[in-house]
Amino acid sequence: MEADQAFQDRPRDWMQHSRLVGLVALVVGAGSGIGEESARVIAANGGKVVVADIRGDAANDVAAAIVAAGGDATSVSMDVANQADIDAAVARAIEAYGRLDIVVNAAAVVKGGPIETCDLADWTLSFRVNVEGAIMLARTCLPHLRGSPHASIVQIASLSGMGAYPNGGAYGTTKAALIALTKTMAMEWVKDGVRVNIVSPGTVETPLMRAVLTPEVVEQRAARIPMGRLGRPSELADTIVFLASPMASFITGQNLNCDGGLSQALMVQKFNPDL
Ligand SMILES: NC(=O)c1ccc[n+]([C@@H]2O[C@H](COP(=O)([O-])OP(=O)(O)OC[C@H]3O[C@@H](n4cnc5c(N)ncnc54)[C@H](O)[C@@H]3O)[C@@H](O)[C@H]2O)c1
Repeated sequence: MEADQAFQDRPRDWMQHSRLVGLVALVVGAGSGIGEESARVIAANGGKVVVADIRGDAANDVAAAIVAAGGDATSVSMDVANQADIDAAVARAIEAYGRLDIVVNAAAVVKGGPIETCDLADWTLSFRVNVEGAIMLARTCLPHLRGSPHASIVQIASLSGMGAYPNGGAYGTTKAALIALTKTMAMEWVKDGVRVNIVSPGTVETPLMRAVLTPEVVEQRAARIPMGRLGRPSELADTIVFLASPMASFITGQNLNCDGGLSQALMVQKFNPDL
């Protein structure tokens, strides 16, 4: 409990409130969970944030909370799978702040089902949002990012993009595609001075995770994580914002697992510090 309180009380301006001053970020899927926390951390470190989400009300609420906390944010309702919405969100960033430096894409749909029987329409939607949306978003932002000395894109994948995810094939397969896409973008756009990286969470305590997993499965998953607990959205946000920030200026094309050690636990059945 004491450790938990210390974690909650830790300063949020770990970049000393200066690293992101003058930079403008578009955070997509920022109405909740990991995207919301990323928007908050960017604002807490001096960045200006366009909070975008398909749920416009949620985006409004997050932007209002950032402003109430002394940060600078505006919100936009946006479906990452809709080119006109993306155009409008980028236009909002330019209109409100005159530039765009950082793009964080945390939007995703999670569609499951066994491969033998799953509905292929779910695969089409998953690829549309999780992969094509990422392409459309990144390349729409690119002309503006080219003008920034600190241009950076961070995508969010999942451990399911690297290992088997039985009954979650559509989701895991799109995340594998997103990892490959990110690496290709990074190499194609290195000449433009745009860094592109991706963070792969393990299991994180968010509304999305609670919606797709039963409490029993959550408990089983937590028991398999070497750190013995789920990730917190703010821990993912710190990782994402580090990669997005000038502090990661020599890092591009990387997939960073933020998972409490789960991806390295191949030989571990249950964490035992005495092993
Ligand atoms: N929570 C986990 O355990 C976990 C694990 C691995 C990967 N991830 C990934 O992390 C990212 C964030 O997930 P989260 O857990 O914070 O989920 P979340 O549901 O809390 O947040 C996702 C947000 O994206 C928005 N969104 C969904 N579809 C959208 C669209 N088409 N356009 C714009 N916004 C859209 C939702 O409204 C929501 O606010 C996702 O890419 C997810 O796949 C999460």
